[in-house]
Amino acid sequence: MSARIVRTVADLRAALAPHRGDAVGFVPTMGALHEGHLSLARTARAENAVVVLSIFVNPTQFGEAADLAAYPRTEETDVALAAAAGVDLIFAPSVAEVYPTGFATTVSVDGTITGTLEGARRGRSHFDGVATVVAKLLIAVQPDHAYFGAKDAQQVVVVRRMVADLGLAVEIRALPTSRDPDGLARSSRNTRLTAVERGLASVIPRALRRAQDAFADGIRDARLLETDVRGALTAAGLDPEYVEVVDADDLAPIARVERPAVLVVAVRVGSVRLIDNVILTPGVDDRIRIEGNTP
Ligand code: PAF
Repeated sequence: MSARIVRTVADLRAALAPHRGDAVGFVPTMGALHEGHLSLARTARAENAVVVLSIFVNPTQFGEAADLAAYPRTEETDVALAAAAGVDLIFAPSVAEVYPTGFATTVSVDGTITGTLEGARRGRSHFDGVATVVAKLLIAVQPDHAYFGAKDAQQVVVVRRMVADLGLAVEIRALPTSRDPDGLARSSRNTRLTAVERGLASVIPRALRRAQDAFADGIRDARLLETDVRGALTAAGLDPEYVEVVDADDLAPIARVERPAVLVVAVRVGSVRLIDNVILTPGVDDRIRIEGNTP
């Protein structure tokens, strides 16, 4: 199995030209592919005639230069993994290809959905960077379906808003968070955890699971659910940056879960900042299934 690599928008367009009219699925990534990305790619493979995956470590969405520098870059392995997952075409542009000299346009999504949670901690520029690069990638690839992981819940909400506002003809598909056997959400940053930190990080999904259980038992008070999760994290020695129950559509804070909500968490474990979440849907017991994890 092999996947073709293209590095310019011109080559990408030329490679896709014979397939216009076929369903094109697109998986945007920053590389360091893990099972989460690959499950997105496999779903894209099952749902489309052509699958494109991008690998681009987007500098404009990183706040800390150290985080950008430390971001794992593993292109050779990524290409092999993507090909095995059924990807046809890999778009791996340079920074100069995406942001040529004189580049002066920013796609900025306004309001609560970017001003809160990750936007409040990492600065609005983070989501400006995400919205701008995702808009550029969607315009270049012109996919029918684009695949994102639900772990980055706020990113999904921001991308959906941007796509709707710009009238881009693509369906944004958010797939359930891919998890390790102990429940930890898969992330390229997990490779930077030491063995001790990796053990500590597994407290995060256990804490989320507690909230899901409390929710399934009928607790609807958002502050109670947050307090329970925060308590489980701090008891393990973790100091969460935030634990919040927010509306699933616009990420506004809520007092009671009467409609779909998401409980979002950000925690720094050692030098690695991890985020995770669970969806809380009244009337639906959709708690995450964490294989091998019996909290
Ligand atoms: O989720 C990511 O990996 C990135 O934010 C994305 C969507 C590839 C944009 O750089």
